[in-house]
Amino acid sequence: KTGKVALDPGFVNTASCSSAITYIDGDAGILRYRGYPIQELATGSSFIEVCHLLIYGELPGPGELKELADKLRQNAGIPDEMRTMLDALPREGHPMTLLGSAVNLLAAYYPDSVDLSDPDQVELATIRLLAKLPTIAAHIYRNSIGEQPVDPDPSLGYVENFLHMTFGKEKGEGELGSLFVKAMDLLLILHADHEQNCSTATVRVVGSSEADIYGSVSGGIHALFGPLHGGANQAVLEMLEEIRSSGTDLDTFLERVKARETRLMGFGHRVYKNFDPRSKEIKGLASQILDNQERPDELFELALQLEAKALADPYFTERKLYPNVDFYTGVIYRAMGFPTTMFTVLFAIGRLPGWIAHWREQAADQTSRIARPRQLYTGPGQRSYPGRA
Ligand code: SDX
Repeated sequence: KTGKVALDPGFVNTASCSSAITYIDGDAGILRYRGYPIQELATGSSFIEVCHLLIYGELPGPGELKELADKLRQNAGIPDEMRTMLDALPREGHPMTLLGSAVNLLAAYYPDSVDLSDPDQVELATIRLLAKLPTIAAHIYRNSIGEQPVDPDPSLGYVENFLHMTFGKEKGEGELGSLFVKAMDLLLILHADHEQNCSTATVRVVGSSEADIYGSVSGGIHALFGPLHGGANQAVLEMLEEIRSSGTDLDTFLERVKARETRLMGFGHRVYKNFDPRSKEIKGLASQILDNQERPDELFELALQLEAKALADPYFTERKLYPNVDFYTGVIYRAMGFPTTMFTVLFAIGRLPGWIAHWREQAADQTSRIARPRQLYTGPGQRSYPGRA
């Protein structure tokens, strides 16, 4: 009764819900958004088109795509009192901490879009979240470096505008700039949804009590921040920088991992047991971006060597540990000029349409019930209170 109870894997991994949004086959390395393979979306689509697909269930026609893009441009601004609030937040706070708090407050700035029983309000909240998250993220970043925030420019596309607000100049300009815009758009597509991952499950759990979408997404942002989840993209780069600065050779590092003194961040996945299809796309993109640099990127070279050594080591292959979505993203973000503290914010911007799609799917499901996980009790049996002496 008081011993440790080993949870039956089946108990731990029972399906928590049904969903029509994303399909993953972890053994076959399959990932599909509303039936479309991630590889086809990665080569042919755009992030705004994928937002429409995930949220509304179908690829938009030309008119629908333009309508969504225009709505996002028109709604990218944030209220002055919200800008004042953001400016009052601790500048040294981690951007994910500040972002999660700010997103929750959108419910206070926009009380006309919190009633999930009103489809018009759900639509208003959907557009406002998609349109304003990049603006809030860029504002937080500009404050963290002591620079004036940059207003959204309605003449720019979604990704160009985010880079413009973040870096304060036409980051999307010129040949390298347009490569960055294309790369960022692809990275956002690859992060857009992933079934019942920790942060999306959090959005659904919070939303299952009929809490508003802003608070539900705020919960998702905080779950994503953890280094075992989206925070891993920051942890990977810190791991590579630590290996490089300490001069640790890779074999010694991997021995430390095998001795469980540290983890190989960016490796492993609860569902993918052969390869993460997104990691393959991102590795190719990293080569494309970094080949444009004057000299080889030391950390990318290190990551390639680390992957090769780990995949040749039975410790990792026997545990089915392969590079996941976070292993190569950091070297790309760094090459674009983002500090490591912004990497998980970029993951959140990408994952937002998935969070919204899942929250809406659950809110529209009349059979949906409040999340209430059960437990296996492992504490003491009944005993009598001794009474006060
Ligand atoms: C994301 O769920 C999603 O879909 C998430 C995500 C998404 O798009 O939303 O794909 C995004 O979160 C990707 C994962 C990013 N996290 C990391 O890269 C952090 C490092 N990886 C892990 O900590 C781990 O692999 C997890 C958290 C990703 C998965 O954890 P699991 O499924 O609980 O795996 P586990 O801890 O049960 O590990 C199984 C074995 C263990 O060894 P044994 O005790 O059986 O001997 O593998 C080992 C673990 O010790 N192991 C690792 C390891 N990951 C697992 N050993 C060294 N380094 C690692 N990274």
